[in-house]
Amino acid sequence: MPIAQKTVAIAKLRCIACGDTPDAAARDFRCAHCGDLLEFFFPGWTFDAAALKSLWLERKTSRSALDQSGVWRFRELLPHIPEEHAITMREGNTPLYQLPRCARIAGLDMLQAKHQGMNPTASFKDTGMTFAASAARQGGFRWVACASTGNTSASMAAYAARGNLHSLVLIPEGKISWGKLSQALDYGALTCQLRTDFDGCVRILNQLVRQKPVYLLNSVNPYRIEGQKTSAIELLEQLGWELPDHIIVPGGNLGNSSAIGKALLEMRDLKLIPRLPKLSIIQARGANPFYRCVREFGGTRLEPMTADTMATAIRIGNPASLKKALRVLQATGGEVEQVTEVEIAAAKAEIGADGVGCEPASAVTLAGLKKLAKRGFVKRGESVVLILTGHLLKDPDFTIKFHRGDLFAGTPDENEARQTKSLQRAPVVLEADLGAVIGALDAAERNS
Ligand code: F0G
Repeated sequence: MPIAQKTVAIAKLRCIACGDTPDAAARDFRCAHCGDLLEFFFPGWTFDAAALKSLWLERKTSRSALDQSGVWRFRELLPHIPEEHAITMREGNTPLYQLPRCARIAGLDMLQAKHQGMNPTASFKDTGMTFAASAARQGGFRWVACASTGNTSASMAAYAARGNLHSLVLIPEGKISWGKLSQALDYGALTCQLRTDFDGCVRILNQLVRQKPVYLLNSVNPYRIEGQKTSAIELLEQLGWELPDHIIVPGGNLGNSSAIGKALLEMRDLKLIPRLPKLSIIQARGANPFYRCVREFGGTRLEPMTADTMATAIRIGNPASLKKALRVLQATGGEVEQVTEVEIAAAKAEIGADGVGCEPASAVTLAGLKKLAKRGFVKRGESVVLILTGHLLKDPDFTIKFHRGDLFAGTPDENEARQTKSLQRAPVVLEADLGAVIGALDAAERNS
């Protein structure tokens, strides 16, 4: 038996633009009046902050699946979904690591990373997916679907399989990593590789859900955002409720930054934390519509673009949760940055060299942090947490090409990439001979 919930907060849906409060969401999760996104809010919720914190800790010793989940453990701050519908794989519960080498490189005294790649399907998507897939089951759906750059599809396919749901995946042909594609296949999704980009997949999916009874599991689904909120709650708990000065996240479709920001604002309103850390959002230069929206247009306009970056997870030109992310940036006083392909590759190898590792999209956080520290927005003695969104093994092709020195061969970045040579650790091919191995060891020792 899970440890009982203190209070079931009443959750209502609200349009983020016109403020309409529908009783139920349309299939595309858009406001029926103005077409903007919906979010959950909790009118009149009040909690005893200290009691809540100790209840969440107590659940860590419980043997129930719900209490062991790093998402459902915090269910007081989520809309109510009855236990019989919950699909959980003990998601969340992700580690917070020190990155001492990366801290030195960025010019900081200390740096920590919360590794969301340590989730069941190896990305942060599982925290939102456990909750939204459960909502699909509660709603009696037979099919769930998403458009994805790879991680959402892997996560959705797994949770659908666990919950006896069928899943349909739309992914851009040739633009997602094999690791992610192979997950969707193994978990049994109907996987369609469309000859378009992520934004093209989203367009088709939105049309599909209006015609067919499939449940949309992209991050426009407000249940996804609610589940993903818990990563910020768990982070604060891990920090002993001591606020960091900065949290830094990658930005793609902007669901994750919106979710973390929503959690921070709610925790402050509930007096779980006294004030807000700054939440900064980093994009790849080739997929930077949010960066340009903030820097060039003061947050007033988004120019959709054809995105291109080797960090395929964030190859997104028309982010859905733009307005939610803008609100978070303004409320927390965070910054936006953009980073080049070479900066991403270098940062990824540096995170790897700390014995942690991540996929390329996650490494934009360190690359962006270096820039934020250089221009004084992040100061040496401040506490900083990077959110690493995906596991190193999600995209081994990228890693191997980088270390072999092939990643930028024949690209316009070839020259700039020379500066990453010292980070490359190409495998050494030798005869099966003891002397050859000792020679390699001695040479490595001399160079270390
Ligand atoms: N990092 C990784 C590893 C991702 O997979 C994504 C998004 C992001 C960062 C960006 O997060 O979209 O919430 O701003 N991946 C989505 C997908 C789009 O389909 O897997 P965001």
